[in-house]
Amino acid sequence: MKFYYLAFVFLLFFSLTSCFQEDNKSDNETINLNNSTKNSSATDSHTLSNYQDVTITNSHLNLKVDFENKILKGFVTHDFIKKTDTNILVLDSKYLEIDSVTDGKGNKLNYELGKFDELLGTAVKIQLLEVSKKVTLFYNTTAKSEALDWLLPNQTAGKAFPFMYTQGQSIFTRSWIPIQDSPGLRITYSAHIQTPENMMAVMSAANPQKIVDLNSYNFEMKQPIPPYLIALAVGNLAFKPVDERTGVYAEPTMIEDCANELVDMGKMVDAAEKLYGNYDWDRYDVIVLPPSFPFGGMENPRLTFATPTIIAGDRSLVALIAHELAHSWSGNLVTNATWNDFWLNEGFTVYFERRIMESLYGRDYSEMLALLGYQDLTEEISHLEPTMQRLKLNMVGLHPDDAMTDIAYEKGYFFLRMLEEKVGREKMDTFLKNYFNDHKFKTIVTKDFETYLNENLLNASNATFNIQDWIYESGLPENCPKVISKRFEDAENLATEFIEKGANSLKLKTVNWSTHEWLHFIKHLPKEVTITQLTDLDRNFNLSNSGNSEILAVWFLQCIKTDYQPAFENLEKFLIKIGRRKFLQPLYTELSKNSDHKLWAKGVYQKARNNYHYVSYNTIDEILN
Ligand code: BES
Ligand code: ZN
Repeated sequence: MKFYYLAFVFLLFFSLTSCFQEDNKSDNETINLNNSTKNSSATDSHTLSNYQDVTITNSHLNLKVDFENKILKGFVTHDFIKKTDTNILVLDSKYLEIDSVTDGKGNKLNYELGKFDELLGTAVKIQLLEVSKKVTLFYNTTAKSEALDWLLPNQTAGKAFPFMYTQGQSIFTRSWIPIQDSPGLRITYSAHIQTPENMMAVMSAANPQKIVDLNSYNFEMKQPIPPYLIALAVGNLAFKPVDERTGVYAEPTMIEDCANELVDMGKMVDAAEKLYGNYDWDRYDVIVLPPSFPFGGMENPRLTFATPTIIAGDRSLVALIAHELAHSWSGNLVTNATWNDFWLNEGFTVYFERRIMESLYGRDYSEMLALLGYQDLTEEISHLEPTMQRLKLNMVGLHPDDAMTDIAYEKGYFFLRMLEEKVGREKMDTFLKNYFNDHKFKTIVTKDFETYLNENLLNASNATFNIQDWIYESGLPENCPKVISKRFEDAENLATEFIEKGANSLKLKTVNWSTHEWLHFIKHLPKEVTITQLTDLDRNFNLSNSGNSEILAVWFLQCIKTDYQPAFENLEKFLIKIGRRKFLQPLYTELSKNSDHKLWAKGVYQKARNNYHYVSYNTIDEILN
């Protein structure tokens, strides 16, 4: 007994000291490597892990979904390969409780937690044995885990079952899995998820289509993906196919409406493949989540996560599905290696999204979307710091989610559109198809793209290009493409006519309007529009009760600006129900500009905050405090 005790103390002492030594060594190695073999611009500043020295290749999750305690509990096993002779594996974690670490054969491994960092979390430094090929971490999530949203039954459509989902992008995966949480790394994964009765689990992997009796589900993702794309949702879900390779998951009370809204999904995948090559992920499904989901959509591979606010009843908001689908190429197949290169994910995706929309619904339609994008972009540029107006960013010390501005999306889009207009569509399409194919399942930084662009498109062309301005300067270069939309010009003219003649005169002229014309019209009401005029509009078109969330959001914004009180009751309902940050942020910001409105907003927020995911309440906390 005594011997064992002594041996244990000795071992502990030995391994801890060697752990510290190794630690220093591994720091030195990183520095050396950065100076020699590795491209320093490819180093991700948003991970504490040593993913470039010891690299996870596959992860297996085994988790129980505990709705009572609102935690995930179980273990994760990582396979890794060593690229240097270090014996330390460093993982990212944030707000996790780690119980123990073993080497996969049951041998306990020593580990140490680093100092907590508000932005990046806590490094988990594991002392590997010489023969180690795997590590297993036993852990559970906590109430603070930022990725997770736990919903009570009354926050769902069916009101009978709880619901949970994860949001990994950009650096939240570490708050539900201890992992090397960098987009510069690709792993395959499998999972075993235990759920309560009558619940289905789905992941960014091969998915079940029915609720099973045994309350446990197995998953496999065979294609290597960055960790921010690992995703899980659990609820009382139903599935409905759209065609052979696409389908919809949603709560049973919503499944018909959702499937009906998304009937064109199959055609979208066909159109996308025609443009830029085969869809490489087998199935493409969408899950429509409860309204607290903080984004419009999230491109989790094989299974896009979507907000229910796109279910408008008239299929008018499906561009969002085209966008998330396009990420199956830009983002998921070719991934930004660091969050400084986020525009590589989003700019390409917006370009691809609009090409899909054009091939399904025509150029007129996609040009309306492009013009709305352009307006958002110029508006954003007018108040964004110059350093944040560059495509290539420097996000060191900042939260990568702050890169989610119209610069990455719309400036990125217009950059690619400028290239298209200069070289012609045919060349552009060949170039993009090859770009996706040549970088399949790889991660790249902006410089890699520049080199590829020069070698494969620009050098062969006689034209001159201002690529550096687009990528490294703020603002919009003077050769930014112009978008002209006849349908929007008509809508602007009607905004003027409305001021002169009243809402009744618009009745016949707007019968064929799409959602986008309405959006453009509301955004182009003159600043001086009066309460009487808004009353007139509302009486004629019932905008305060629109079933279309995009229309509601711009309409409510106008109502706040004009202090049109009759809309505030519905505005309150909207703010309490919907957790999509893109809608909430401008509304709360506008409300904060006036002290009476701000007081009112704080009252509403007290009732609403519980219905928001971390991503949204974190933003709104800042606006209201
Ligand atoms: N990948 C993004 C969502 C995202 C970005 C999450 C950055 C976390 C950090 C997704 O593809 C997206 O862009 N969603 C948009 C919709 C799209 C149509 C512009 C959204 O949610 O508004
Ligand atoms: Zn996107």
